[in-house]
Amino acid sequence: MKVMVTGGAGFIGSNLVRYLLNNTAMDIVIVDSLTYAGNLESISDCLKSDRVSFNHVDISDKIAVDFLFTSTNFVGVFHLAAESHVDRSIVDSSPFYNTNVIGTLNLLDNVVKHNTPRFVHVSTDEVYGSLTTGEAPFTETNLLLPSSPYAASKAASDLLVRSYVVTHGADCVITRCSNNYGPYQFPEKLIPLMILNAFEGRELPVYGDGQQVRDWIHVEDHCAGLLAAFSLGKAGEVYNLGGITELQNMEVVRSIVTLTGASDELITRVTDRKGHDRRYAMDISKATTQLNWRPIVGFAVGLKNTVDWYSANKEWTNHVRTGEYKLFYEKNYNAKFKE
Ligand code: NAD
Ligand code: TYD
Repeated sequence: MKVMVTGGAGFIGSNLVRYLLNNTAMDIVIVDSLTYAGNLESISDCLKSDRVSFNHVDISDKIAVDFLFTSTNFVGVFHLAAESHVDRSIVDSSPFYNTNVIGTLNLLDNVVKHNTPRFVHVSTDEVYGSLTTGEAPFTETNLLLPSSPYAASKAASDLLVRSYVVTHGADCVITRCSNNYGPYQFPEKLIPLMILNAFEGRELPVYGDGQQVRDWIHVEDHCAGLLAAFSLGKAGEVYNLGGITELQNMEVVRSIVTLTGASDELITRVTDRKGHDRRYAMDISKATTQLNWRPIVGFAVGLKNTVDWYSANKEWTNHVRTGEYKLFYEKNYNAKFKE
């Protein structure tokens, strides 16, 4: 049973590779182009396994991706490779379209050409846009009303996936998940940025009034949801995944201040993000009934474990902070991980 995991050197992808290794018998073929967000140090333990292989490939590369599908009979694909940071998409959205749209299209063409049995398209709650306080959480039938160029590129890819199911009969499911946190997240996202800044006594930059609401889910719960969607999802269906933990950003930052013992004087209000979505919240009843899945990691425990992980993994964090993680591929890839 060989599966392809795109984006396997990123935050969720690296956690998924480890999760599949520990909880299934699958062999895992990672496809990742190692952008700034890709970090082989996040999977250096997994790469030692004979069940895991790594391919330094861009998902929009037609020849390389076709070669991978031709040379291996995949039972499925978990598609996570993406440009994923809203702030970057505001500065320059073109990489978001090359990867999230053109890259997804290339994978879909190969799934059809090679009759790949299952394609799990990993999407986000952000495709639904923003909720006001008191509005009902998003269900899978909500309109797609993305606010950021990132969210629009993900919505575009969701629609392409749907069209390949309808037009070509491709066996695809779409998952839409809320904000993840946990080990190996790149410190440009709220939680790891605040944790590392708190450790280092740096400012904790809160956008606008800090009252924006996100629904937080531990990355391991997300990985369990992706496996459930792979195993039990129906072709053409969308499944919302979420942590049922709505919190204002300021509440999250204050919890991090408490857990790290930092001074709350580090909290600094900064200019708000352009087009900043006010609130996300997910109705996950479809996934709980049809995929027999629910999140199990409570936020208090999950956040404490995450703070402890960043504290215990100084080599990983230092390499990310200094940029040294980028040298890992050159230094180690040809030096036989599997010895
Ligand atoms: P990430 O930015 O940490 O990792 C993305 C990975 O994709 C990196 O390893 C990067 O090198 C790789 N990649 C980027 N462009 C590529 C390309 N052209 N070809 C091959 N590889 C490429 O992202 P993440 O937070 O792990 O998110 C993974 C997926 O989950 C994304 O599709 C994202 O939209 C989705 N998602 C994320 C969250 C979240 O809270 N982080 C929530 C819901 C959904
Ligand atoms: P982020 O982790 O970028 O995820 P997303 O934008 O995909 O939800 O941001 C989470 C929330 O935290 C979002 O409302 C923006 C806010 N935020 C800050 O207030 N300060 C920061 O430095 C960052 C990175 C985010």
